[in-house]
Amino acid sequence: MKNITHEEQHGIWEKEHLSPYVLKQMDSEDPSGGVITFYEWFSGKKQSASSKGLEMCCGKGRSVIWLAKQKIKMTGFDFSENAIKEAKRRSKLAGVDSNAHFMVQDATKRWAFDSNTFDFVIDCFATTDIESDEGRNFARDEAIRVLKPGGYLLVYTLSTENEFHSEMMKISPTSQSNSFLHPTTGKFEKTWDVKELEQFYSKLSLVELRRVPKTSTFFGKEYRESNIWMVLKK
Ligand SMILES: C[S@@+](CC[C@H](N)C(=O)[O-])C[C@H]1O[C@@H](n2cnc3c(N)ncnc32)[C@H](O)[C@@H]1O
Repeated sequence: MKNITHEEQHGIWEKEHLSPYVLKQMDSEDPSGGVITFYEWFSGKKQSASSKGLEMCCGKGRSVIWLAKQKIKMTGFDFSENAIKEAKRRSKLAGVDSNAHFMVQDATKRWAFDSNTFDFVIDCFATTDIESDEGRNFARDEAIRVLKPGGYLLVYTLSTENEFHSEMMKISPTSQSNSFLHPTTGKFEKTWDVKELEQFYSKLSLVELRRVPKTSTFFGKEYRESNIWMVLKK
Protein backbone atom coordinates (compact mmCIF):
# COMPACT_ATOMS: atom_id res chain seq x y z
CA MET A 1 0.00 0.00 0.00
CA LYS A 2 1.19 3.47 -0.85
CA ASN A 3 1.50 6.42 1.53
CA ILE A 4 2.33 10.10 1.12
CA THR A 5 4.36 12.64 3.11
CA HIS A 6 3.02 15.97 4.35
CA GLU A 7 5.35 17.82 1.96
CA GLU A 8 4.07 15.79 -1.00
CA GLN A 9 0.41 16.44 -0.05
CA HIS A 10 1.21 20.17 0.29
CA GLY A 11 2.93 20.24 -3.11
CA ILE A 12 -0.03 18.53 -4.81
CA TRP A 13 -2.43 21.11 -3.35
CA GLU A 14 -0.26 24.09 -4.35
CA LYS A 15 -0.30 22.75 -7.92
CA GLU A 16 -4.05 22.05 -7.88
CA HIS A 17 -4.82 25.58 -6.58
CA LEU A 18 -2.58 27.15 -9.22
CA SER A 19 -4.10 25.24 -12.14
CA PRO A 20 -7.32 23.46 -11.12
CA TYR A 21 -7.32 19.99 -12.61
CA VAL A 22 -9.05 17.28 -10.57
CA LEU A 23 -11.10 19.28 -8.07
CA LYS A 24 -12.50 22.07 -10.24
CA GLN A 25 -15.29 22.74 -7.70
CA MET A 26 -12.57 23.98 -5.29
CA ASP A 27 -11.93 26.83 -7.73
CA SER A 28 -15.59 27.86 -7.70
CA GLU A 29 -16.76 31.13 -6.16
CA ASP A 30 -20.08 29.56 -5.12
CA PRO A 31 -20.26 28.72 -1.41
CA SER A 32 -20.56 25.10 -0.34
CA GLY A 33 -24.22 24.00 -0.03
CA GLY A 34 -23.30 22.39 3.30
CA VAL A 35 -22.08 25.74 4.63
CA ILE A 36 -25.28 27.52 3.50
CA THR A 37 -27.31 24.85 5.33
CA PHE A 38 -25.16 25.39 8.42
CA TYR A 39 -25.64 29.18 8.26
CA GLU A 40 -29.43 28.74 8.11
CA TRP A 41 -29.25 26.35 11.06
CA PHE A 42 -26.91 28.64 13.02
CA SER A 43 -29.05 31.74 12.33
CA GLY A 44 -31.92 30.01 14.12
CA LYS A 45 -29.68 29.37 17.14
CA LYS A 46 -27.49 32.16 18.39
CA GLN A 47 -26.21 34.36 15.61
CA SER A 48 -25.53 37.95 16.58
CA ALA A 49 -23.95 40.87 14.74
CA SER A 50 -20.68 40.05 16.45
CA SER A 51 -20.57 36.31 15.65
CA LYS A 52 -17.09 35.13 14.77
CA GLY A 53 -16.44 32.14 12.53
CA LEU A 54 -13.38 30.26 11.32
CA GLU A 55 -13.00 27.99 8.31
CA MET A 56 -10.02 25.64 8.50
CA CYS A 57 -8.48 24.65 5.14
CA CYS A 58 -10.65 27.23 3.38
CA GLY A 59 -9.09 26.95 -0.09
CA LYS A 60 -9.85 30.07 -2.16
CA GLY A 61 -12.38 31.23 0.40
CA ARG A 62 -15.69 30.59 -1.41
CA SER A 63 -17.59 29.93 1.85
CA VAL A 64 -15.69 32.47 4.01
CA ILE A 65 -16.52 35.25 1.53
CA TRP A 66 -20.18 34.25 1.40
CA LEU A 67 -20.42 34.17 5.21
CA ALA A 68 -18.71 37.58 5.41
CA LYS A 69 -21.43 38.88 3.08
CA GLN A 70 -23.95 37.63 5.68
CA LYS A 71 -22.18 40.00 8.16
CA ILE A 72 -20.27 37.36 10.11
CA LYS A 73 -16.70 38.22 11.09
CA MET A 74 -14.86 35.43 9.30
CA THR A 75 -11.33 34.09 9.32
CA GLY A 76 -10.14 31.45 6.89
CA PHE A 77 -6.83 29.65 6.71
CA ASP A 78 -5.16 27.19 4.39
CA PHE A 79 -1.61 25.86 4.02
CA SER A 80 -1.59 26.80 0.34
CA GLU A 81 -0.08 30.21 -0.38
CA ASN A 82 -1.61 30.10 -3.88
CA ALA A 83 -5.11 29.54 -2.43
CA ILE A 84 -4.81 32.30 0.20
CA LYS A 85 -3.44 34.81 -2.31
CA GLU A 86 -6.48 34.18 -4.52
CA ALA A 87 -8.88 34.25 -1.53
CA LYS A 88 -7.59 37.71 -0.54
CA ARG A 89 -7.98 38.95 -4.13
CA ARG A 90 -11.56 37.61 -4.35
CA SER A 91 -12.65 39.05 -0.99
CA LYS A 92 -11.31 42.48 -1.96
CA LEU A 93 -13.17 42.32 -5.28
CA ALA A 94 -16.35 41.29 -3.43
CA GLY A 95 -15.89 44.28 -1.08
CA VAL A 96 -15.93 42.13 2.07
CA ASP A 97 -12.24 42.20 2.98
CA SER A 98 -13.00 44.01 6.27
CA ASN A 99 -15.12 41.02 7.38
CA ALA A 100 -13.08 38.23 5.78
CA HIS A 101 -9.57 37.74 7.10
CA PHE A 102 -7.33 35.14 5.38
CA MET A 103 -4.00 33.69 6.42
CA VAL A 104 -1.55 30.94 5.53
CA GLN A 105 -1.59 28.39 8.34
CA ASP A 106 -0.94 24.66 8.43
CA ALA A 107 -3.75 22.84 10.29
CA THR A 108 -1.21 20.36 11.65
CA LYS A 109 0.87 23.08 13.39
CA ARG A 110 -0.34 25.14 16.36
CA TRP A 111 -3.07 27.51 15.15
CA ALA A 112 -2.35 31.23 15.57
CA PHE A 113 -5.56 31.95 17.52
CA ASP A 114 -6.30 32.27 21.23
CA SER A 115 -8.34 29.57 22.93
CA ASN A 116 -12.14 30.13 23.14
CA THR A 117 -12.25 32.67 20.28
CA PHE A 118 -14.82 31.49 17.71
CA ASP A 119 -18.59 30.93 17.83
CA PHE A 120 -18.18 28.29 15.14
CA VAL A 121 -15.51 26.43 13.20
CA ILE A 122 -16.14 24.97 9.74
CA ASP A 123 -14.52 21.79 8.49
CA CYS A 124 -15.78 21.56 4.90
CA PHE A 125 -13.87 18.66 3.31
CA ALA A 126 -10.83 19.73 5.34
CA THR A 127 -9.77 17.02 7.81
CA THR A 128 -10.54 14.51 5.06
CA ASP A 129 -7.52 15.95 3.23
CA ILE A 130 -5.00 15.70 6.09
CA GLU A 131 -2.78 12.74 5.30
CA SER A 132 -1.93 11.32 8.75
CA ASP A 133 -3.76 10.19 11.89
CA GLU A 134 -1.49 12.43 14.00
CA GLY A 135 -2.22 15.45 11.78
CA ARG A 136 -5.99 14.87 11.87
CA ASN A 137 -5.96 14.41 15.66
CA PHE A 138 -3.90 17.57 16.13
CA ALA A 139 -6.17 19.65 13.85
CA ARG A 140 -9.30 18.37 15.60
CA ASP A 141 -7.86 19.31 19.02
CA GLU A 142 -6.95 22.79 17.76
CA ALA A 143 -10.48 23.28 16.38
CA ILE A 144 -11.87 22.40 19.80
CA ARG A 145 -9.37 24.65 21.58
CA VAL A 146 -10.23 27.77 19.56
CA LEU A 147 -14.02 27.26 19.83
CA LYS A 148 -15.80 29.17 22.59
CA PRO A 149 -17.50 26.95 25.17
CA GLY A 150 -20.96 26.32 23.64
CA GLY A 151 -19.57 27.00 20.13
CA TYR A 152 -20.33 24.76 17.15
CA LEU A 153 -18.17 22.69 14.81
CA LEU A 154 -19.61 21.94 11.35
CA VAL A 155 -18.16 18.81 9.78
CA TYR A 156 -19.12 18.26 6.16
CA THR A 157 -17.20 15.29 4.85
CA LEU A 158 -16.81 12.33 2.50
CA SER A 159 -18.69 9.13 3.27
CA THR A 160 -17.43 5.56 2.86
CA GLU A 161 -20.72 4.97 1.01
CA ASN A 162 -19.84 7.30 -1.91
CA GLU A 163 -19.57 5.33 -5.16
CA PHE A 164 -16.51 7.11 -6.57
CA HIS A 165 -14.59 7.05 -3.30
CA SER A 166 -15.38 3.34 -2.70
CA GLU A 167 -13.97 2.60 -6.15
CA MET A 168 -10.81 4.61 -5.35
CA MET A 169 -10.32 2.76 -2.05
CA LYS A 170 -10.25 -0.52 -3.98
CA ILE A 171 -7.90 0.75 -6.70
CA SER A 172 -5.46 2.79 -4.61
CA PRO A 173 -5.80 2.22 -0.81
CA THR A 174 -3.36 3.55 1.81
CA SER A 175 -2.38 1.86 5.08
CA GLN A 176 -4.91 4.07 6.95
CA SER A 177 -8.57 3.12 7.28
CA ASN A 178 -11.01 4.14 4.52
CA SER A 179 -8.52 6.23 2.57
CA PHE A 180 -6.87 6.33 -0.83
CA LEU A 181 -4.33 8.13 -2.98
CA HIS A 182 -5.89 9.72 -6.02
CA PRO A 183 -4.84 7.66 -9.07
CA THR A 184 -3.80 10.69 -11.16
CA THR A 185 -2.46 13.29 -8.71
CA GLY A 186 -1.46 10.96 -5.85
CA LYS A 187 -3.33 13.19 -3.38
CA PHE A 188 -4.49 11.60 -0.08
CA GLU A 189 -8.20 11.54 0.81
CA LYS A 190 -9.96 9.93 3.73
CA THR A 191 -13.62 8.92 3.87
CA TRP A 192 -15.60 8.33 7.06
CA ASP A 193 -18.42 6.28 8.44
CA VAL A 194 -20.64 7.78 11.10
CA LYS A 195 -19.36 5.57 13.95
CA GLU A 196 -15.74 6.54 13.22
CA LEU A 197 -16.69 10.23 13.17
CA GLU A 198 -18.59 9.98 16.45
CA GLN A 199 -15.54 8.38 18.02
CA PHE A 200 -13.16 10.94 16.50
CA TYR A 201 -15.23 13.82 17.92
CA SER A 202 -16.10 12.14 21.23
CA LYS A 203 -14.89 15.22 23.20
CA LEU A 204 -17.84 17.18 21.67
CA SER A 205 -21.62 16.61 21.82
CA LEU A 206 -23.40 15.66 18.63
CA VAL A 207 -26.23 18.11 17.90
CA GLU A 208 -27.31 17.30 14.30
CA LEU A 209 -26.46 14.57 11.81
CA ARG A 210 -27.66 14.52 8.21
CA ARG A 211 -26.85 12.86 4.92
CA VAL A 212 -26.46 14.97 1.79
CA PRO A 213 -27.34 12.86 -1.27
CA LYS A 214 -26.11 14.18 -4.61
CA THR A 215 -24.55 13.18 -7.91
CA SER A 216 -21.00 14.25 -8.79
CA THR A 217 -19.04 13.85 -11.99
CA PHE A 218 -15.50 12.45 -11.90
CA PHE A 219 -13.60 11.94 -15.16
CA GLY A 220 -16.79 12.33 -17.20
CA LYS A 221 -18.76 9.69 -15.26
CA GLU A 222 -21.60 10.30 -12.78
CA TYR A 223 -21.38 8.83 -9.28
CA ARG A 224 -23.82 8.86 -6.36
CA GLU A 225 -22.63 10.47 -3.12
CA SER A 226 -24.08 10.49 0.37
CA ASN A 227 -21.80 12.87 2.25
CA ILE A 228 -22.04 13.37 6.00
CA TRP A 229 -23.09 16.72 7.49
CA MET A 230 -22.87 17.02 11.24
CA VAL A 231 -22.87 19.76 13.86
CA LEU A 232 -21.14 19.24 17.19
CA LYS A 233 -21.08 21.46 20.28
CA LYS A 234 -18.19 22.25 22.63
C1 LIG B 1 -11.12 19.68 -0.52
S1 LIG B 1 -10.38 21.26 -0.32
C2 LIG B 1 -11.66 22.16 0.52
C3 LIG B 1 -11.46 23.65 0.45
C4 LIG B 1 -12.57 24.49 1.08
N1 LIG B 1 -12.90 24.04 2.40
C5 LIG B 1 -13.79 24.53 0.18
O1 LIG B 1 -14.82 23.95 0.54
O2 LIG B 1 -13.70 25.14 -0.90
C6 LIG B 1 -9.22 20.93 0.98
C7 LIG B 1 -8.34 22.11 1.33
O3 LIG B 1 -7.52 21.74 2.43
C8 LIG B 1 -6.27 22.38 2.29
N2 LIG B 1 -5.35 21.63 3.18
C9 LIG B 1 -5.00 20.31 3.11
N3 LIG B 1 -4.20 20.00 4.13
C10 LIG B 1 -4.03 21.12 4.87
C11 LIG B 1 -3.30 21.42 6.05
N4 LIG B 1 -2.55 20.50 6.69
N5 LIG B 1 -3.39 22.67 6.57
C12 LIG B 1 -4.12 23.62 5.95
N6 LIG B 1 -4.81 23.40 4.81
C13 LIG B 1 -4.78 22.16 4.28
C14 LIG B 1 -5.99 22.32 0.81
O4 LIG B 1 -5.06 23.28 0.37
C15 LIG B 1 -7.41 22.59 0.24
O5 LIG B 1 -7.61 23.95 0.04
